Amino acid sequence: MARILITSAIPYINGIKHLGNLIGSQLPADLYARYNRGRGNEVMFLCATDEHGTPAELAAAKAGKPVADFCAEMHGVQSDIAKRFGLSFDHFGRSSSPQNHTLTQHFAGKLADAGLIREVSEKQVYSNADGRFLPDRYIEGTCPNCGYEKARGDQCENCTKQLDPTDLIDPRSAVSGSTDLEVRETKHLYLCQSQMKDQLDAWVDSKADWPVLTTSIAKKWLHDGDGLRDRGITRDLDWGIPVKKGDVDWPGMEGKVFYVWFDAPIEYIACAGEWAEANGKTDADWERWWRTDKGAEDVKYVQFMGKDNVPFHTLSFPATILGSGEPWKMVDHLKSFNYLNYDGGQFSTSQGRGVFMDQALDILPADYWRWWLLSHAPENSDSEFTWENFQTSVNKDLADVLGNFVSRITKFCRSKFSEAVPEGEYGEAEQALIADLTKRVRAYEQHMEAMEVRKSAQELRAIWVAGNEYLQNTAPWTAFKTDPAKAAGQVRMGLNLIRFYAVLSAPFIPEASAKMLSAMNTLDTSWPDDVEAALSALPAGHEFTVPEVLFAKITDEQREEWQERFSGNRD
Ligand code: 2FM
Ligand code: ZN
Repeated sequence: MARILITSAIPYINGIKHLGNLIGSQLPADLYARYNRGRGNEVMFLCATDEHGTPAELAAAKAGKPVADFCAEMHGVQSDIAKRFGLSFDHFGRSSSPQNHTLTQHFAGKLADAGLIREVSEKQVYSNADGRFLPDRYIEGTCPNCGYEKARGDQCENCTKQLDPTDLIDPRSAVSGSTDLEVRETKHLYLCQSQMKDQLDAWVDSKADWPVLTTSIAKKWLHDGDGLRDRGITRDLDWGIPVKKGDVDWPGMEGKVFYVWFDAPIEYIACAGEWAEANGKTDADWERWWRTDKGAEDVKYVQFMGKDNVPFHTLSFPATILGSGEPWKMVDHLKSFNYLNYDGGQFSTSQGRGVFMDQALDILPADYWRWWLLSHAPENSDSEFTWENFQTSVNKDLADVLGNFVSRITKFCRSKFSEAVPEGEYGEAEQALIADLTKRVRAYEQHMEAMEVRKSAQELRAIWVAGNEYLQNTAPWTAFKTDPAKAAGQVRMGLNLIRFYAVLSAPFIPEASAKMLSAMNTLDTSWPDDVEAALSALPAGHEFTVPEVLFAKITDEQREEWQERFSGNRD
């Protein structure tokens, strides 16, 4: 039994995620976790909310809540939606957890001991009215280049010119609008990643089986100009993990916190500690996943994320781990995704454009979305959600191919035999089907192992189609008239195919899969290592029930209504 550690990029706390975010990390990670559990492997699947940084503070201010309360509440909201989407995390943690505080401060201490942290004095804009330093993008003013009045301190959106906050004419705080700003001197900590360039380069080179998207981004940052420059890992904010060296104060760093991108990936590890605490386990129980000196040497660790996250996971986080000099488990496979676009444009959180996770579940069950998103995952290039494509895919793949198969065979058996598997032999047609399905299941397994999400979906669909074609060709409804014994064998095969499909499809469509198993009145979810045996798992006489419709078709009216409803301005 293999041991598989899986993490999904941890979503920011400030707001509900859209479907583009979902397919970029959490959903494919869930697919892989469910598949591995289905194969009998031991899985630890971790995710959390990413709770620090200015966006969290601002979202809390906008909601009129203390930031800690806001984060606790939003964690509950995101956790609930994740459950309803069938995301099967072993633990959904919080980057603000005590475990992450301790571990982040621990890493900073180790990096400091190794001489990999230096102190840098900087000039930064301070807002007297807000009582805080402002990050560049929270200073607004008039662009010196084009006169645009809402240029940000890091860049003008209108003419794209890169700016320094001091370039702006009439600068003001984007938080309060105050113009009472001054430049103050402040000290920050920098992680000396540049010293680790060769080590990181060699590490990336050792990952020959990583997807091209991942290695090309990593290599670009390693070799392009200042890609791997030393990086500030502290911020002047109230909310975050206080800067300490282990559990010791850091002179000169009072009132400062670690940068959100420093502590977020460390939460992958801390989350396992949270899992242990929540489940009455010991430190040894989580360390056997994360410490190669404590049992994790045989763990396979896979990370899932969108392409914008790749530099942090191939360079900064590995720099933190390698720099600590401690035996933490490092990522073995990093699966990254391109972007999903929405109906001729982009998903936009700020403009409320596209479908958000809560809205998706308001109109259709999770499996409809899971199937479409996974079968159209933006793997080799960006992909696009359109309502037409969604409708076609749901109606054809789920309703016509899979749903119809289940309904047809169970109803036929009930009307001509009974609600129990009939007695009947398998002949040539069944042997041919078994041979075909054996090949297909092995291909499906290979694609799943390789995390080829679209190819896995295509193969699964082909497996459903093969069953449909078998029924079409053998036509038990015709055979029944002349040779009921033969028809009985065909129906036995059809009913066994339902259980077989439920097991194979569970990683994609877990709810429907559970309904199929329940209708087939079985708890046998064993993986079809031997397809022939799997297709005889339900013996003659085994009782079943006809399930409710598994997938309803999407009508043209629904499609048009939804297209209109999600075109922008989510309130
Ligand atoms: O892009 C994002 O949504 C980030 N919150 C991902 C963080 S992943 C990791 F570093 F924890
Ligand atoms: Zn401009």
